[in-house]
Amino acid sequence: MADTPYDLVVIGSGPGGYVCAIRAAQLGMKVACVEKMTTLGGTCLNVGCIPSKALLQASEKFEEARHGLGAFGVKVSGVSLDLPGLMGHKDKVVSANTKGVEFLFKKNKVDRVEGTGRVAGAGTVVVKGKDGKDTTLKTKNIVIATGSDSMPLKGVEVDEKKIVSSTGALALGEVPKKMVVIGGGYIGLEMGSVWQRLGSAVTVVEFLDRILPGMDGEVSTQMQRILGKQGMTFKLGTKVTGAKVTNKGVSLTLEPAKGGTAETLETDIVLLSIGRRAYTEALGLKEAGVAVDERGRVVTDRHFQSNVKGIYAIGDVIAGPMLAHKAEDEGVAVAEILAGQHGHVNYDAIPGVVYTWPEAATVGKTEEQLKAENVAYKTGKFPFTANGRARAMNSSDGFVKILADKATDRVLGVHIVGPDAGHLIAECVLGMEYGATAEDIARTCHAHPTLSEAVKEAALAVDGRPIHI
Ligand code: FAD
Ligand code: NAI
Repeated sequence: MADTPYDLVVIGSGPGGYVCAIRAAQLGMKVACVEKMTTLGGTCLNVGCIPSKALLQASEKFEEARHGLGAFGVKVSGVSLDLPGLMGHKDKVVSANTKGVEFLFKKNKVDRVEGTGRVAGAGTVVVKGKDGKDTTLKTKNIVIATGSDSMPLKGVEVDEKKIVSSTGALALGEVPKKMVVIGGGYIGLEMGSVWQRLGSAVTVVEFLDRILPGMDGEVSTQMQRILGKQGMTFKLGTKVTGAKVTNKGVSLTLEPAKGGTAETLETDIVLLSIGRRAYTEALGLKEAGVAVDERGRVVTDRHFQSNVKGIYAIGDVIAGPMLAHKAEDEGVAVAEILAGQHGHVNYDAIPGVVYTWPEAATVGKTEEQLKAENVAYKTGKFPFTANGRARAMNSSDGFVKILADKATDRVLGVHIVGPDAGHLIAECVLGMEYGATAEDIARTCHAHPTLSEAVKEAALAVDGRPIHI
């Protein structure tokens, strides 16, 4: 393989890298994908989206069996947790997905190269194999898709036993009595929900004065209220200044974010989830002259090309939301650009979903952003308490909120808290891609009785004429 000239070598097999490799192969390119892990699929399939959703799904079932079925007239008794069984479900799902990518590589004739890749200038990738030997791959183009890893916090040393990152939180051997989550973002709320449903008392310590700071303010407020009702405790506007592992667990020192009197908080397990950072370790970027920004992310132009011709980057390692579907879309776009097509990504219509129950889903601008940008807008809101299907599901917490341009009625943003919000946001994303107005959504026939009628009603509400409130 050493001297095979490739059209494209992709470094990293996460959703950015593997999708890019497959799309490029579909377009007739000779492609290799270098991955240092023994399984394909990157953070997303191995220690991210997929295992966390498997645990969320399983813990939701446990919670429902314990507390949710009585309301439907279903009596259950003797419900108990089989944690190894639950973890086994997760492992099976991960394995099926990573093997799926292996199959797709074979089907599309993508060469899988195991080892750690290094960019040795435009046109050359050197791969260090497990045996320590280097293999040189010659290629017309390189795509860096090396992803991200979790952000460290001074004074809080992750040991993946008592102080864990998301990776440790996906594989705890027993349910902790108490868990403190540092950071009230995506990982904190999702993994906090998993362990809370399984029996932990979860406290979320958040630096800012609100959880989910990137989302619409009303979503944050509502999510905090609902998760609070489920038993999660929040310490907002608070920073962690130190963590000491003791015989019993972990002793944390907290301070108000703005300064003030320190307090200690004892817990069994700490989950550190304060964000992720671009991963470019040992990639040789400096030597290859590839520019990175102040946060270590590869700087790219709108065609995903770095300052070095023929070296591209996508996914978590470049700017933008650190989401698997964003990485995938960039992977497709760059492959199409390399094939002489017009691949592009519409960054105004990338959904974000927090997979708690209920879910929080968002696309486009928040009210706070529209206000800051002085955009005149109209709001339409519809609560799930007025949706027949949500009542039938006994899950009527939350709302759909649509923000539309005041003059043109074009949809600028949609924010949902509610059952299956992650599925409901899809039609809004599609609408925004097509430049839909709120009236377009309002005049579209939605099946009855479905949760999606709440989207239609919110669109009607933009014009002040919802039927069911
Ligand atoms: P990654 O998936 O990080 O893949 C990068 C790959 O490159 C890795 O396999 C790594 O081993 C490899 N690599 C790195 N350096 C080298 C090298 N030098 N040589 C060879 N290989 C290398 N996003 C969502 O959209 N939805 C979710 O539900 C979701 N849940 C998440 C849950 C958790 C717990 C976490 C941590 C993340 C979650 N994310 C989710 C984020 C999502 O996982 C990332 O946005 C996504 O994986 C980024 O894809 P990527 O291809 O850029 O990088
Ligand atoms: P995040 O950015 O979502 O949340 C981090 C939170 O930590 C923020 O609320 C931030 O204000 C807070 N914070 C920062 N520094 C702090 C400190 N010193 N003390 C206390 N709080 C602090 O990051 P998270 O949850 O680690 O996830 C990383 C990324 O992974 C997400 O941003 C998202 O892109 C991706 N992800 C996506 C998921 C999904 O799509 N469902 C699920 C999990 C992760």
